[in-house]
Amino acid sequence: MFVCICRAVTVDEVHAHCDAGAYTVDAISDRCGAGEGCGTCLDQLHDILSERASTATTAA
Ligand code: FES
Repeated sequence: MFVCICRAVTVDEVHAHCDAGAYTVDAISDRCGAGEGCGTCLDQLHDILSERASTATTAA
């Protein structure tokens, strides 16, 4: 499923960038361009990062 239509970035790709150390929307954008077009996906990118952060906190 695509998160960012403008740059054709999928949810799995965003998670892969997070796994590789991209912990902010800016870092993800730098790696794949997500969020650098219309900006519609920014909320979803934030949601993915927040979900991962809460999961990491819970798992620790
Ligand atoms: S959908 Fe991501 S920048 Fe447009």
